[in-house]
Amino acid sequence: MSSSAKSAALPNDLESFFMPFTANRSFKSHPRMISRAKDMHYYTPEGRAILDGTAGLWCANAGHNRKKIVEAIQAQAAELDFAPTFQFGHPKAFQLASRIAALAPADLDYVFFANSGSEAVDTALKTAIAYHNVRGEGQKTRLIGRERGYHGVGFGGISVGGMAPNRKFFGSLLAGVDHLPHTYNREQQAFTKGEPEWGAHLADDLERLVTLHDASTIAAVIVEPMAGSTGVLPPPKGYLKRLRAICDKYGLLLIFDEVISGFGRLGAPFAAERYDVVPDMICFAKGITSGAVPMGGVIMRKGIYDAFMTGPEHAINFFHGYTYSGHPLAAAAGLATLDVYAEEDLFARAKKMEPIWADAIHTLKGQPNVLDIRTLGLVAAVDLASRPDAIGKRAFDALNHAFFEEGLMVRTAGESLVLTPPLVISEAQIDEIVDKMGRIIRAVA
Ligand SMILES: Cc1ncc(COP(=O)(O)O)c(C=O)c1O
Repeated sequence: MSSSAKSAALPNDLESFFMPFTANRSFKSHPRMISRAKDMHYYTPEGRAILDGTAGLWCANAGHNRKKIVEAIQAQAAELDFAPTFQFGHPKAFQLASRIAALAPADLDYVFFANSGSEAVDTALKTAIAYHNVRGEGQKTRLIGRERGYHGVGFGGISVGGMAPNRKFFGSLLAGVDHLPHTYNREQQAFTKGEPEWGAHLADDLERLVTLHDASTIAAVIVEPMAGSTGVLPPPKGYLKRLRAICDKYGLLLIFDEVISGFGRLGAPFAAERYDVVPDMICFAKGITSGAVPMGGVIMRKGIYDAFMTGPEHAINFFHGYTYSGHPLAAAAGLATLDVYAEEDLFARAKKMEPIWADAIHTLKGQPNVLDIRTLGLVAAVDLASRPDAIGKRAFDALNHAFFEEGLMVRTAGESLVLTPPLVISEAQIDEIVDKMGRIIRAVA
């Protein structure tokens, strides 16, 4: 086909991009297009300001286009565009690993870099299985996830994940996976600020899975400390400690997927600190560069790293890695982002704002169709009642109304509206979000 024939076949220049996790036809007929950003705002190509209620996609914790981060990326691109980290290295990847390790609790001292949350998760799952293998326990391969968990879109991640639409099209997932029950119960938990009182006992289901499969076959348990993508499910009080205790009892590794809960979202560097629970591995991504350059990775305990440091000096320790693990632009962006977090004390700021945020968002209780509101850190979800026979349509209409009429970016998760603003949000902007949300919810009533 000639190029002129091709362009004739495409009705407009939006056609070729098969957009991820998007209603493509709807978007292409009414594009929600963004062409610029600064601090708390996005701007459309026509120059309309959109208040960013979602930190992009849980990424831009420092706000957008922060000078220090932009300049670090620009300088890095001019100095060293790419260097391999297989058998070679560049200084900033090492500096960033040390800085991340310093933020993590206890002896989570080693960092393996990937480029996304999905890669971070698959890295952690592979690390868990390989760790047992190198210690002579190669039969420990089973992985335990959780219903309503989201761990990205790799085959490992969707296998341990608990979102039916993400799993059902993709044939045979990883064998040897089982799932804990999710922790949400509206009757017991509706309109809770922070962690619900009810639900810690759900961790005990891990005992049942250990009885069923035997600990000798289980490598690891992976959970999001706060499930995000299925509508924000804060952990019940005591739940994560209980999971840790059961993992310890049976020699199972515990992996926290902190791709969204890391870097201040819950008012601490990691949820592990907020909940005073030391996992064996932490998956991170997104906030490490405030979204400016793709990066992800796994922080692991010293004992895990050490288990791989055997064999001859010249031999490769772990047959895993990505061409762009620790990419120079991402490393530079990560270092500058951690500087911004530290200089502006943004994790502590998020902690201070949490009650203000929670009180403000919970004033939406009583608006039409609002069935539940959950808040934790600088995160909120507002559940709406579905329209009859159109599951998800009310939330989708709200997303459009928010963008086109109110100038607010919100996310949807099923019939939930999810808010996760940059950590630099002001009290006035919190009020602005709540005012807009009230009008949006009434508009889609
Ligand atoms: C908890 C969790 N894990 C993994 C991922 C996947 O990250 P990515 O989209 O960067 O692959 C996400 C993305 O939102 C996430 O929320």
